[in-house]
Amino acid sequence: MYILGIESSCDDTSVALLDSSDKGHFVLFEKTASQIEIHKKYGGVVPEIAGRMHAEKIVPLIDAALEGQPKPDAIAVTAGPGLITGLLVGVEAARTLSYALDIPLIRTNHIEGHIYSVELQEKKSPIQFPALCLVVSGGHTELILMTGHGKYKFLGATKDDAAGECFDKTAKLLGLPYPGGPQISKLAETGNIKAIKFPRPMMDDENYLFSFAGLKTSALYWLRDNKLDDKITTNDFCASFEQAIVDVLVFKTLKAAAQYKPKTIILAGGVSANKKLRQTLDEAVKNEFPGTKFMIPQMKYAMDNGAMIATAGYYHAIKKDFTSWKKIQADPNWELAR
Ligand code: KG4
Ligand code: ZN
Repeated sequence: MYILGIESSCDDTSVALLDSSDKGHFVLFEKTASQIEIHKKYGGVVPEIAGRMHAEKIVPLIDAALEGQPKPDAIAVTAGPGLITGLLVGVEAARTLSYALDIPLIRTNHIEGHIYSVELQEKKSPIQFPALCLVVSGGHTELILMTGHGKYKFLGATKDDAAGECFDKTAKLLGLPYPGGPQISKLAETGNIKAIKFPRPMMDDENYLFSFAGLKTSALYWLRDNKLDDKITTNDFCASFEQAIVDVLVFKTLKAAAQYKPKTIILAGGVSANKKLRQTLDEAVKNEFPGTKFMIPQMKYAMDNGAMIATAGYYHAIKKDFTSWKKIQADPNWELAR
């Protein structure tokens, strides 16, 4: 089945064409137009500019995706959650294409796309259920239990900032460019994780909630009251800070794994590109839940992309779970599992 995936919920306009079946997902075309260089100047994503850039890029990307390829059997488009300025562009483009070419439309959730990004592997790699999913991105930090395709149970989320947001805001305090997550993790590679004692917010609470706003404030206060120098370097700061985030995420995920005994543990979302987080969770799963499969996206599918949206869309398409072009709506606050 040929699925066209369209993603425009934040600062990447991304389109992919997949050949998906029970043999796996084969990417026939994929291209992403990143807006990072533009938003960098402002230290974060400016919704108005993001919408305009998506509008500029989306038709040429769809045109390139369809050229010389078989007609898609379905169009999967991100309808939320995300920035309304971006979502509208993707949804309106998909609606028009669905009408003009008479192709069924799939209203796809961005978080669901991140979860299914783990199936985009060289070898067929289906998610086995139940699957415990830790989705960590610039806008989300959620623990979700997946009991089947399209079946989600909400376990917990952040009460305030998302993990990626905490990385980005703290990077800003250090004067690092947007997006700060990759910058912090690069510097952290050669730093001392024990140099600064940052708090591990809500780690010992009897629930699956997270809170990262306090950690960002601790970083702010530390920088106000101390100096980065030869004794404690920027790299040490980054390593200690990164470790605090990784500790909380891994600890809570393992706790949920002990309770729900999943067959698969999934780490997805932009922050899943963080090497420390990938390695720490991988090792912890191997040690503590040796029979459990650990799935992470390939690096290129950790960040927002159209291929993951097409992959999630495939599972709706086989159930004929379509939405008419007349009815599809973007919803910036669409919650997958609540
Ligand atoms: O999923 P994504 O591409 O967009 C959203 O849906 O939000 O995630 C982007 C987030 C940003 O906050 C970025 O700083 C973070 O992912 N990120 C990282 C790393 N790479 C990307 N955070 C920590 N370490 C990384 N290596
Ligand atoms: Zn995302």
